[in-house]
Amino acid sequence: MPDVNNEDVAELKIGEKTVKLPIIRGSEAEVGIDIRTLRKETGCITYDPGFVNTGCCKSDITFIDGEEGILRYRGYDINDLADKCQFIDVAYLLVHGKLPNKKKHQAFSSHLNNHSMIHEDMRHFFDNYPDHAHPMATLSAMAVSLSSFYPELESSRKENVDFKVTRLLSKMRTAAAFSYNKSIGHPIVQPRHDLTYCENFLNMMFWTPVNDYKPDPVCAKALNKLLILHADHEQNCSASVVKMVGSSGANLYASISAGICALWGPLHGGANQHVIEMLERIIKKDKGDVKKVIERAKDKNNSFRLMGVGHRVYKSYDPRAKVAKQMCKDVLDQMGLKDPLVDLAQELEEAVMADDYFQSRSLYPNIDFYTGLTYRAMGIPTDMFTVMFAIGRIPGWIAQWLEMHEDPHGRIGRPRQIYTGPTQREIG
Ligand code: CMC
Repeated sequence: MPDVNNEDVAELKIGEKTVKLPIIRGSEAEVGIDIRTLRKETGCITYDPGFVNTGCCKSDITFIDGEEGILRYRGYDINDLADKCQFIDVAYLLVHGKLPNKKKHQAFSSHLNNHSMIHEDMRHFFDNYPDHAHPMATLSAMAVSLSSFYPELESSRKENVDFKVTRLLSKMRTAAAFSYNKSIGHPIVQPRHDLTYCENFLNMMFWTPVNDYKPDPVCAKALNKLLILHADHEQNCSASVVKMVGSSGANLYASISAGICALWGPLHGGANQHVIEMLERIIKKDKGDVKKVIERAKDKNNSFRLMGVGHRVYKSYDPRAKVAKQMCKDVLDQMGLKDPLVDLAQELEEAVMADDYFQSRSLYPNIDFYTGLTYRAMGIPTDMFTVMFAIGRIPGWIAQWLEMHEDPHGRIGRPRQIYTGPTQREIG
C-alpha cells in the first residue's frame, strides 16, 4: 500500500493543467483516488475495462486482502464463520451488520419457515419449463416473478428488510429444489418447519413418496459451510450487476434475478459446474493426462482455461478454496466415498502449483475448484452447483443492494466510454 494520509492529494497533470484529487483510505488501509470531479475539471474520463482499478463505493460489508488471502464478513474471518456459525446467522450478519443473539436467531429462523412455501400459482410455472431447462434459468425467472406475486415490497427500499430477506432466502431455496424435482419428473416436496435451513433443502431435493429420506447430518453440515463460503464477496460481477440494476430504482427481486444470470457465467459462479465437466473430459478424452491439459490452458492460441483456477482479486490461495478442499476430503471420508475426480483434481492442483506459467501469474485454485466435488459427493447433480452458489450468495447480494440504497453518494450506475466509431457522415 502507498504511504499516504487522508489529507494527502494525488496530482494529475493533463496538458498544462494540474488537478488535485483527494486520497481516501479504508479501515484496512486500502487507498483510493477520488476522481469524482475529474471530468468536470479536465474534460477527461478514466479508461478501465473490466473495472480492474475502479472502486465503485465505500463498503462496510466484506473485506478481502487478495495478496494475503484474507476474507472477512463484517470483520469476522471466513474460517471462523465457516467453523462456528449457521448460514442463517451469517445471512443475518451480512444484512444487519451483527450476528444475531439467541432470541433474534430464533425469530429469524421461524420467519424463514413461515415464508418457505411458494405461491401455488407460481408453483405451476414449473410445469411449463422443459425438463432440460437449466435450473439457473428457472431460478432467475422465479426471483423476478416474486415481484409480481409480492408487489407491495416495491414500495419502500428501507422498510421491511427482514421481510424481503426472508422471502428471498427461503423461497429461492424452495424454488431451487422444485426446479430439480421437476427436471427429473419427481413430485414437488414442500418445506417442513421442523427442519433446519440446510436440512430442509436436502429434504426437498431427495425425499420421495417411495424413499423416506432423512437429511444426512454430514451433508447438512457441509452444505451449511458451503453456503457460508458463498455468502458474499464484495464487488464481484454478480453483486455489481445486482447494484447496477438496483441503481435504476428497480426492485430487489428484479435486481437479484439479474445477479443470478450474471453468476451463471463460467468465468464466475458457473465455474463450479465447468470444473466437474472439465475433470470428466480429462478422464474420458485425455485419458487422465494432466500435462496435456496444462499445456492446452497455457496455449495462447487456444481459448481453453483451467476452470476453478485464477481470480481477479486473489493473488494467493483463495481462503475459501482452502476450507472447501479440506471439507471435500472430510465429507468423502465421513461418507466412506471414493471419487476418481477428487484424485484427479488434486493431481491437477499440484501440476498448477508447480508450473511457472501459473506461478508467474499468481493463479491458484479458487472456491469453485473443490466445491463441486463436495456437492457431487452429497448427491447434488452437476447442473445444480451454480444454483447452490446462488442460494448462498443471496444474503450478500441483498446486503450490497441495501448498502447502495443507503449510500448518500449513491447514483444511477452509468459508465462512460471512449467513442472510436465513425465521425459524422451523411446518408447516400
Ligand atoms: N487458465 C489459464 N490461464 C489463465 C487462467 C486460467 N484459469 N486464468 C487466468 N489466466 C491467465 C490469462 O490468460 C492471463 O494471461 P496473460 O497475462 O498471459 O494474458 C492472466 O492469467 C491474467 O488473467 P485475466 O483473464 O487477465 O484475469 P482476470 O482477473 O480478468 O480473470 C478469472 C479472472 C477468474 C475470470 C480468470 O482467472 C478465469 O477465467 N478463471 C477460470 C474461470 C473460473 O474459475 N472462474 C471462477 C472465479 S472464482 C468464483 C467467482 O468469481 O464466482
